[in-house]
Amino acid sequence: MQIVHTLPALADALKPYRHPAVVPTMGNLHEGHLALVRQAKPLGDLTVATIFVNRLQFGPQDDFDTYPRTLAADCAQLEAAGCDLVFAPTEAEFYPEPQTFRIAPPAALTDVLEGEFRPGFFAGVCTVVLKLLSCTQARSAVFGKKDYQQLMVIRQMVRQFNLPIAIVGGETRRAADGLAMSSRNGYLSEAERAQARELHASLQAIAQAVRAGNTGYAALEAHAMESLRAKGWQPDYVAVRRQADLQAPHPGDALVVLAAARLGSTRLIDNFEI
Ligand code: PAF
Repeated sequence: MQIVHTLPALADALKPYRHPAVVPTMGNLHEGHLALVRQAKPLGDLTVATIFVNRLQFGPQDDFDTYPRTLAADCAQLEAAGCDLVFAPTEAEFYPEPQTFRIAPPAALTDVLEGEFRPGFFAGVCTVVLKLLSCTQARSAVFGKKDYQQLMVIRQMVRQFNLPIAIVGGETRRAADGLAMSSRNGYLSEAERAQARELHASLQAIAQAVRAGNTGYAALEAHAMESLRAKGWQPDYVAVRRQADLQAPHPGDALVVLAAARLGSTRLIDNFEI
């Protein structure tokens, strides 16, 4: 596995290949990321992972400075997972001048759910993803379904700009107790970690009720928010939405239930397709 840090070195490493399959990450990798790398492997003639903590997608109160940077351990795991090439630029390499051109995703996609609570997040994600897909010459790219809205926004960006790149969703990997794997799980104290399963459990309860024919989404959402609050969580949202565009569901739509909630100072997100 080759590791490159600069754009010229990346361009050189890509020269012999026609169909790179790319997994963009911010590092601090776990089994969820490695599953995406394994999923990417048969999609191209070169499997590329990018590792870059993207300042543009962090709000002023977010954890940009403390976000774990674990390049050596990440590279060891990527190599074992069959990755061929890692692109891990510095900020000076990737943003050599202020990134004044930015992607502005439409409000209908980004003012809801994560977008409502993380202003500017999707503009930052789209901007960096466009740059990463461009400089890695991606012909396919794999993103986790755990960041469900991110996957949807990226799919629509790629479609609207006619980028010749297949965007593939990877299933969420979970710990034995059901907690969705996330780099931010490492922030949880032992007591919080023991409690963290409650988020996915409340989503599963909603998914089960909806599958059984309950269409009282607002009541299900309110009940889940209330019981999370009663257990010490600070939920941002629990929402049943349609899968296609995350707007309010109409009869017959394929649905997804999504949530974001803080446990102590750690913000966790999760979702289940119904
Ligand atoms: O999901 C992530 O880790 C990031 O949002 C991404 C897609 C790598 C962009 O920085």
